[in-house]
Amino acid sequence: MNVSSERSVSLWMATVPEWHAEPLAANERADVVVVGSGIAGLSIAYELCRQGQSVIVLDRGPLGRGMTARTSAHLASALDDFYHELIGMRGLDEAGHYFHSQVAALERVEEIQRSEKIDCDFQRLDAYLFAASSADISLLEKEIDACQKLGFSGVTWEVMPGSAEAPQHRCVRFPNQARFHPLKYLAGLIRCIQRDGGRLYAETPVVSVAEKGGETIVQTQHGNEVHARAAVIATNSPINDWIAIHTKQAPYRTYVIAGRARRGSVNDALYWDTLDPYHYVRLQPGDADDDWLIVGGEDHKTGQADDQSERILRLTEWAKRHFPTMRDPEYVWSGQVVEPVDYVAHVGRNPGNENVFVVTGDSGEGLSNGVAGSLILRDLILGRENAWASAYAPNRISIKAAGEYISENLTMAANLAKHITGGELSTLDDLKPGYGALIRRGTAKLAAYRDDDGELHLRSASCTHAGCVVHWNAFEKCWDCPCHGSHFSVDGEPLNAPAFKPLANAQE
Ligand SMILES: Cc1cc2nc3c(=O)[nH]c(=O)nc-3n(C[C@H](O)[C@H](O)[C@H](O)COP(=O)(O)OP(=O)(O)OC[C@H]3O[C@@H](n4cnc5c(N)ncnc54)[C@H](O)[C@@H]3O)c2cc1C
Ligand code: FES
Repeated sequence: MNVSSERSVSLWMATVPEWHAEPLAANERADVVVVGSGIAGLSIAYELCRQGQSVIVLDRGPLGRGMTARTSAHLASALDDFYHELIGMRGLDEAGHYFHSQVAALERVEEIQRSEKIDCDFQRLDAYLFAASSADISLLEKEIDACQKLGFSGVTWEVMPGSAEAPQHRCVRFPNQARFHPLKYLAGLIRCIQRDGGRLYAETPVVSVAEKGGETIVQTQHGNEVHARAAVIATNSPINDWIAIHTKQAPYRTYVIAGRARRGSVNDALYWDTLDPYHYVRLQPGDADDDWLIVGGEDHKTGQADDQSERILRLTEWAKRHFPTMRDPEYVWSGQVVEPVDYVAHVGRNPGNENVFVVTGDSGEGLSNGVAGSLILRDLILGRENAWASAYAPNRISIKAAGEYISENLTMAANLAKHITGGELSTLDDLKPGYGALIRRGTAKLAAYRDDDGELHLRSASCTHAGCVVHWNAFEKCWDCPCHGSHFSVDGEPLNAPAFKPLANAQE
């Protein structure tokens, strides 16, 4: 079980069937064990298999049905947090390493889909960043300047395709970006990993990762173990870390709609605006005369909003205003991104370990980060130098991100105080079918859900990762943890890392 059990279904999930894989049923050995089968885990497994390594991949849910199945799948070397911000935060050298790794990631996807004949709708195209107001034009100027410093060639002013020339329609064009169907691409990776002898196991939750006697030991909920020379934790948010990395990144929920638009009525490109949170837009080839217009945005910190239907309405209105040929959305879904405080994902040796590696902190560029991460970790695991590794090092401390660091971590302090406040309802009798709410019972806070048949599901509201109070998500019908992004089903089962233990049963 994982986030694929949440209520919404993405366009990608609806158009590619789940792959069948058995759970791990015995102890096994490999050169490398990878935990997590999203873009990060499968890309790493692919790279290592190509290098002749024996690889095992374990996932707590079906293969490839984590956040990679809920993405919008822009493949960008442009940075959504802006290169001028990154240069200010980390300096030109580190920003340069990051930029080159992102270019390499897009090239790698292009090369793999071509050489492995993966039919995944991969397409190179331009991306446009447009100013949400004329006040933001200076922001675009700074970004063009930063791109020039980094050697990102061809980044120029343009007029928004399809709009009359006006200052607010000036935008920046980033050439040579791309898009694909993420699950068709993962299907291709799975086929190649299996061809190269990789072993993939689904429905196999991992509950511990340890190093002993020069090897890594990964233990599953069902009691089996995988022994390997190295372990890669690619669970989107690391399950093997309680605090070190989690204090440097924060989870945000984001929303996506997909509706049909007549082919040719929207220029085939990637789009972003400068709002915070920003909108993101792309096309996906559809059937007959239509394409899918995919529009995302309305992000908020995980567990800090109860107005999802208003957000989706605003997103739909925004999309139809800017793209009048878009018809009513047929798919509406949400997902979560993990935002690092200094804009760069954490990829490399897990702090305090020799042979346990992590890839996390994906931000809105988690696909290219996952692929860049696979190139970095391939090298680190095989004992080779990698020029980009320092930019992504999980143990880095970015002094200039101190403000962001403090502000994101106030969430945890404020949240823990909720253990002593009252509940959202004074009596369970007020809980309507289909709803969830927090309720106080003695000294404990409980997560209560009443299903459509009236049956009550009562669990402790204390997240099993580090004890924060979970929050009801009425859109996905699950419990979200605002601190580091764990999600739980109405019966308390963990759906999203970092938690891997269920919420304690509090049934009367
Ligand atoms: C709405 C949305 C839009 C986005 N748009 C973009 C975009 O346009 N471009 C872009 O680059 N990025 C985008 N992102 C981000 C990107 O999609 C993600 O960062 C990326 O897919 C994450 O990949 P992953 O492999 O790290 O994680 P996942 O795909 O989540 O894979 C992690 C896997 O680990 C498994 N797992 C977790 N815990 C355990 C455990 N205990 N034991 C075993 N397995 C476990 C999970 O079941 C899951 O399958 C978007 C994300 C969202 C939600
Ligand atoms: S995810 Fe860390 S406390 Fe809940």
